[in-house]
This record gives sequence, structure tokens and C-alpha cells, in this order.
Amino acid sequence: MYLVTGATGNVGREVVRALLDRGAPVRALTRTGDAAGLPKGAEAVAGDLNDPASLAPALAGVRGVFFLPGYADMPGLLAAAKGAGVERVVQLSGRSAATGDMTNAVTAYMVRTEEAVRAAGLPWTIIRPSAFDANALRWLPQLRAGDVLRLPFAGVPIASIDPYDIGEVAAVALLADGHDGRVYDLSGPEPLLPADQVRILGETLGCELRFEAQPDAEARAEMEAAMPKEYVDAFFRFYVDGDLDESPVLPTVREVTGRDPRTFAQWARAHAGDFAS
Ligand SMILES: NC(=O)c1ccc[n+]([C@@H]2O[C@H](COP(=O)([O-])OP(=O)(O)OC[C@H]3O[C@@H](n4cnc5c(N)ncnc54)[C@H](OP(=O)(O)O)[C@@H]3O)[C@@H](O)[C@H]2O)c1
Repeated sequence: MYLVTGATGNVGREVVRALLDRGAPVRALTRTGDAAGLPKGAEAVAGDLNDPASLAPALAGVRGVFFLPGYADMPGLLAAAKGAGVERVVQLSGRSAATGDMTNAVTAYMVRTEEAVRAAGLPWTIIRPSAFDANALRWLPQLRAGDVLRLPFAGVPIASIDPYDIGEVAAVALLADGHDGRVYDLSGPEPLLPADQVRILGETLGCELRFEAQPDAEARAEMEAAMPKEYVDAFFRFYVDGDLDESPVLPTVREVTGRDPRTFAQWARAHAGDFAS
């Protein structure tokens, strides 16, 4: 049995799918344990990642776990997994962890998560993806209001990744030998500016979308209304100060899975239905 945390999220649902595609039994964890929206064949289970003791039922009889990063007690979560007899952990992190910059709040929670995994005494694989193609789903409110997408960080190219490919890499690392102790930095196949993504999404949906560069001050105010200021500062350091470069295209998805990562156009085609709502 394999336990996937964050199972209804952008990444977790792809890890669930990739494991099921390979015939592995999957237990899918969310806070509610609600099975709605999970792929057929996955067993829904409830647990709170901020409360390691609550994962005891979910961990029973589990061989491998896919963990999301950044929860309140990552050492406690990993100890619970080890105590339950788990044999292997695949830990999601992020590209910025490579900078080791503990003054950046996002990087700091990724680094602390990785430190907990390395110290847990379990075989592990760490996955550091670039920004997700699925972040474009955040544009839905603007798309419902019209055909203009006013977006931050207009000059920043990112080789964003389809969560499908993160799921593929995670499933291979959980199921196959040879991935323990490896850190996989992952990217998509091409660096794109926000304006490129908007153009490709418009072509895919068959509509004319117009890109507008959002000024930094406006972006900051909007983001501060949605998340703690320390995280807003972190993203501004990444993308305005240039502390993080997610434009390089990396060979890792091909090396691990044997196929190239999906393009943003492929992601958009697969998710066109999400934009119809
Ligand atoms: N977005 C990016 O570009 C990016 C890049 C690199 C790394 N990351 C990392 O990737 C992570 C996952 O992203 P995502 O887009 O897949 O997330 P998401 O779509 O927001 O999904 C989060 C998932 O976690 C579950 N969850 C949330 N809090 C929980 C808790 N306390 N206990 C148990 N389950 C909980 C949610 O289900 P319920 O709400 O039903 O519990 C949901 O299934 C992020 O948190 C971030 O650290 C993101």
C-alpha cells in the first residue's frame, strides 16, 4: 500500500493517478477523507498533516509515502511513518531549496523539510519541482470576468512543470529501486514568460486572451491579501530581486521516466475543462 498526502491537490492527485496506472494500491489522504474527486481505485483516508498522531490509521500497512512539505512537525510526521514500518518516502520540496537561503521564508520551509527527511532514518527521494503549470488555475477569477489577464512578474521566464510529470517521477521513485538518497530538481520543457502562457492558453481554449503586466506594487497588495507577508516577500525576492532562476530546462524528467516532460500547451489541453467552469 502507498500513502499519498495532498491527494486531491494539483500534485497529489497526479501521484495517485501515476501509482494506480502502475497497478499499485493507493491510500489517498486529505483532512476530510472525502472520496469525492479521487480517481476510482484509490482508498480515501482522513488525517491532518499538522498532527502526526492523526496519521496512524492512514499509515497502517503502508510501504511508501509521498509527503507534501512544510507542515508544522515534519520530524514528527516522518517518525510516525518510520514507526508504522514505512520503507520509503518521496518528499516534495521546491527548486529554491537548492539556494539554502534561510532568510527566505519559502526556501526555509523547504530546507527544514528536507533536513527532517534526511534525518529520519528512512530511505528517501527528494523532488524539487519548478513552479507548476497548474498555477494558471489561479487566473480563473479574472477569466470569468473577461478576456484580460493582468499578471505579476511579467519579465520572469519559468520552465514550469506539469504536475503530471511530478506524479510520474514520484511514482517511479516510490515503486522502483535506484532512487533512494537522490535529489531530483525538475523542470518543464521550455522557459515561458507569463505572456507566452496566456497566448498558449488562449490558443488552446480558442479565445483571444489579452496579457497585461501587473505593476509590482499592485501585485504585492493583492498577494498580501491572500497570504502571510513573509511569503509575499519570499516571492518578490525570487522573481523581482532575481534570487531564483527557474528558466533552465533540466533533463531529470526524461532521465527518471524515459520521456520528455509535457508542454504548457499539453497541460492546458488536459485542463481545458477546468477553464470552462
Ligand atoms: N505551486 C507551485 O508552483 C509549487 C512549486 C514547488 C513546490 N510547491 C509545493 O507543492 C505543494 C502542493 O501544491 P499543490 O498545488 O498540489 O497543493 P493544493 O492543490 O493546494 O493541494 C493541497 C492538498 O493538501 C491537502 N491538505 C491541505 N492541508 C492539509 C492538512 N493539514 N492535512 C492533510 N491534508 C492537507 C488538501 O486537501 P484538503 O484541503 O481536503 O485537506 C489538498 O489535497 C505546495 O504546498 C508547495 O509547498 C508548489
